Amino acid sequence: MFLPDEAATLSAAADWAKRVRAPLSVALHGDLGAGKTTFVRGVLRSLGVQGAIKSPTYALVESYDTAIGEVHHMDAYRIEGRADFESRGGLEYFGGPSVRLVEWPEKLDGIVRFDIHIFLSYDGEGRRMRIVEGSV
Ligand SMILES: Nc1ncnc2c1ncn2[C@@H]1O[C@H](COP(=O)(O)OP(=O)(O)O)[C@@H](O)[C@H]1O
Ligand SMILES: [Mg+2]
Repeated sequence: MFLPDEAATLSAAADWAKRVRAPLSVALHGDLGAGKTTFVRGVLRSLGVQGAIKSPTYALVESYDTAIGEVHHMDAYRIEGRADFESRGGLEYFGGPSVRLVEWPEKLDGIVRFDIHIFLSYDGEGRRMRIVEGSV
C-alpha cells in the first residue's frame, strides 16, 4: 500500500486500529524516519487517546488507556539482548491482555513473539506499507 504523505500514514493506521483486539503484539519494521511512530500516533488517536503522544526512545515504553484497553508503545532500539530487556521490565508488557506496538522489533528477535509484522519503507517522497499476519 502506497502512503503519499503523513496524513495517509495516520489514516491507514486509524483504519487498521478498528480491527485490533487485545492481546496483540505488533512488530513495526522500518528504517529511521520510515513512519513507525507516525503509525502508532494514528492508532492511538483512532482509539481515543488525546494529548501528547511522545516517542518512547528513552523511556522504553509509553502506555495509554484506550477504547480497547491498555496499549503499550515500545521502542526497543537501545535493547542489548534478553538480560537487558528483562532487567528493564520489558517482558512484563507482553504478559497481560494489552496491545504492544514495538519499534525496532529486530532487537527482540528470539525474546518475544509477534502476531503481526508491519513493514514501512521509503518510496520517493512517500512511504510504502505492508502488513503480514503471523510470525515471520
Ligand atoms: N507516508 C508518508 N509520507 C511522507 N512522510 C511521512 C509519511 N509518514 C510519515 N512521514 C514523516 O516521516 C517522518 C518520520 O516519521 P516517524 O514516524 O518519526 O518515523 P520512525 O518512527 O519510523 O523513525 C515524520 O516527519 C513524518 O511526518
Ligand atoms: Mg520512531
